[in-house]
Amino acid sequence: PKKCNLIGHWVNDLGSTMTISAVNGDGVFSGSYLTAVSATTNEIKVSPLQGSLQHKNRKGQPTFGFTVNWTFSDSITVFTGQCFVDKDGKETLRTMWLLRSYVDDIENDWKATMVGTNIFTRVQSQRE
Ligand code: BTN
Repeated sequence: PKKCNLIGHWVNDLGSTMTISAVNGDGVFSGSYLTAVSATTNEIKVSPLQGSLQHKNRKGQPTFGFTVNWTFSDSITVFTGQCFVDKDGKETLRTMWLLRSYVDDIENDWKATMVGTNIFTRVQSQRE
């Protein structure tokens, strides 16, 4: 069966896009993320991501995690998920995320973390 490969261009169910540019031999990867939405009113800008891909499981549907360090807000999002290949060879990333917002006071800590899911599909290049 085809192996799931994280490198490339992805779009999620919110319309956010990300590009994963390289995965090294230890499974460490980096890329960029352009979110379609924000919890802030700040102007959205491309933000860097850094992650880790499991490679001990060589069955071709690896688990991974990555962090997006937002350049336009003081928040951080961590994503964790798994790369699946369906019977037609189509790759999909099933993820869950935690978005940590900045709060001024420890009394507001209770409302500082959002949770959700995102499904990413590969953006096919025009010439494929
Ligand atoms: C912020 O609002 O402070 C930064 C942007 C957060 C965007 C979130 S991260 C989880 C969810 N998935 C996306 O693609 N965008 C939102």
